[in-house]
Amino acid sequence: MNQRQTLKINNKGHLEIAGADTVDLAAEFGTPLYVMDKSYIKNMCNVFVKTLAAEYGEGLISYASKAFCCKEIYRTIDSCGLGADVVSGGELYTALCSNFPVEKLTFHGNNKSYDELLYAIKNNVGYIVIDSEGEAEDIEEICAEINKKQNVLIRVNPGVEAHTHHYIQTSKVDSKFGFSISDGSAESAILLTASKPHLNLVGLHCHIGSQIFEKKSFCIAVDKMTDFYKHLLDKFGISFSVLNLGGGFGIYYAGDDAKISSDGYADYIKEICGELKRCVAEKGIQKPYLILEPGRSIVGEAGITLYTVGRVKEIRNIKNYLAVNGGMFDNPRFALYQAKYSVAAAGRMNDKSEKLYTIAGKCCESGDLIAEDCPLPEMRKGDLLAVFSTGAYNYSMASNYNRNLIPPVIMVENGKAKYAVKPQSYVDLIRNDV
Ligand code: LLP
Repeated sequence: MNQRQTLKINNKGHLEIAGADTVDLAAEFGTPLYVMDKSYIKNMCNVFVKTLAAEYGEGLISYASKAFCCKEIYRTIDSCGLGADVVSGGELYTALCSNFPVEKLTFHGNNKSYDELLYAIKNNVGYIVIDSEGEAEDIEEICAEINKKQNVLIRVNPGVEAHTHHYIQTSKVDSKFGFSISDGSAESAILLTASKPHLNLVGLHCHIGSQIFEKKSFCIAVDKMTDFYKHLLDKFGISFSVLNLGGGFGIYYAGDDAKISSDGYADYIKEICGELKRCVAEKGIQKPYLILEPGRSIVGEAGITLYTVGRVKEIRNIKNYLAVNGGMFDNPRFALYQAKYSVAAAGRMNDKSEKLYTIAGKCCESGDLIAEDCPLPEMRKGDLLAVFSTGAYNYSMASNYNRNLIPPVIMVENGKAKYAVKPQSYVDLIRNDV
């Protein structure tokens, strides 16, 4: 666990988050339960917004909604002055239902449907990030029909290989996302888009991957993108006013992951801004409005999941399983990426760890694990288990597999907890069944 002022052990020996005792939260709201520390989220938003303003000036922190999407998160980030990126009609709908300022929305995706594009354009989203030539044609057709000019960016692939799991690496040459700079396809997409009368091509976007710790990877991306801006200026006289560098800052999950403080995240922004300012001056290009899209780093460590231990199964000399009342339906990240998590006995935080337990979910899959070989005190049925850093890509990737109910989400601030997402019921499961 990465302790902080709002995540610590209280004087009862219980885990406390945002001023609330997790044992009390479990008693009041039940388990499994997603718990989000709202003060952490707000602090991260403020750190990113302030550092960008101080170190660079004109720009926008655009929260990547895919990390955790519900109405309350849009209200929270809006109150801190962020924009947001959405990747589907559903995320856009959620943002619109939260009265999120549309001009601060960026619409992403490698296969947005015609209807999704129409929906976004009619609702005046700030930017659409074009990911294929067909998409440029679709947007042009829609805009011509309703006589509107749409701000667009083009997603390019600068070919930076960041060190992360290969599924969440997005900027390699063979990626399904974007247009490669190296094979000339980015240049053709830019020329095509620039020729469309209803498309206002304001700049380029790239996203090198996720859960990245090396600042150098982001600086290489800045360098490659500004090289390309310079090339376009020299060759075609094309100048861009916006640069969107995506998200991807790593967070602490377990083991050797770096424990980064808010000052540490500010350093990422400082370094990117410093590199960009240097490149702009050196290469003689227009200083672009800078957009950054952090998702995981804003909500990841804000979240924990609380489970209740159901069964303890000890396979002598081989493995000790703790089966909890959740699993891959609320957190599929072990199954998908062999992701690592740290866990704790939330009601007995001062007890000595004396055994290694593998945390198993309740789905009918052998691969349905949450974490392997976790040091814990001797565990019993009914114990409360906390899994840390589950605020990003857990609720948003949850499913009703095995017809399990997706847990509710509560947001906690100054010891007060409120539902952000209410519990599902069995009725919800059959709502659309015919
Ligand atoms: N912008 C774009 C265009 C993205 O594709 C992503 C993440 C982000 C921003 C935010 O990246 P972040 O700051 O959250 O790293 N489900 C995977 C993560 C997939 C990330 C996809 N794109 C996981 O659970 O690790």
